[in-house]
Amino acid sequence: QIRMQLSQRLDILEVLLDVDSTNSYLFQKASDHMGKRYAVMAEKQAAGRGRRGRQWVSPFGKNIYLSLLVSFSGGIAALEGLSLVTAIAVERALVKLGIDGIGLKWPNDVYADGKKLAGILLEVTGEYNSHCQVVIGVGLNLSLSDKDAEDIGQPWAALKTIRPELSRNQVAAVLLDELLQAVDEFQKQGFAPYQQYWSERDIFHHQEVVILGGGEEKRGVVKGVNRKGELMLHSDKGMEVVMAGEISVRPV
Ligand code: BTN
Repeated sequence: QIRMQLSQRLDILEVLLDVDSTNSYLFQKASDHMGKRYAVMAEKQAAGRGRRGRQWVSPFGKNIYLSLLVSFSGGIAALEGLSLVTAIAVERALVKLGIDGIGLKWPNDVYADGKKLAGILLEVTGEYNSHCQVVIGVGLNLSLSDKDAEDIGQPWAALKTIRPELSRNQVAAVLLDELLQAVDEFQKQGFAPYQQYWSERDIFHHQEVVILGGGEEKRGVVKGVNRKGELMLHSDKGMEVVMAGEISVRPV
């Protein structure tokens, strides 16, 4: 049972017991809900999806699997930086819940004490007459068994280990509220107001990293993000800009 009071506009909120993926679910609903804000949470995902074609481990009743369908009038170009803003919304929700030590990893991962706590998957449904719809998917780990951790195959963090007394409903309500607020702000002002905020919380700020998966390997020191949310990298070729996509940032 989820009770929440949201300060921002939401047209539909649905809570499902079981679904393949909350992102895929909203993707199917998109064309019938143009102009609407539609949120879905699920207890479990049978085929939760992560970035770069990976699975998102989604056991029953433990974590938060949330997707939000939003319409944009400026076309796909108006979405620059939205994935970073989503990560900031998750970070703000965690700060509001009293969690310290939260960091961001470009383009849209949320870390707690050096381990991944939440992941974000943005999917655009297409552009028609310069209108487009986006499904913003957030997976936030509250508790995971050893078996789940094994399936994930990378260091992970879970909110219940950090703050056992937090209720999932409370976390879900604050998260959705912050997400709606961030989307509102982003629709009005774009990414630019978040540029500084991001850099201050980037776990690799001023560190040397390597960029994997974008064709040619890039290496350099992280120098923040530009007004579009692209990563600024100082390499031996000078300042380079890295666009978000199917890539991943690793420390050297
Ligand atoms: C990542 O690889 O870091 C992104 C993970 C995104 C997972 C969330 S869970 C809710 C939504 N539904 C999905 O299938 N994926 C996203």
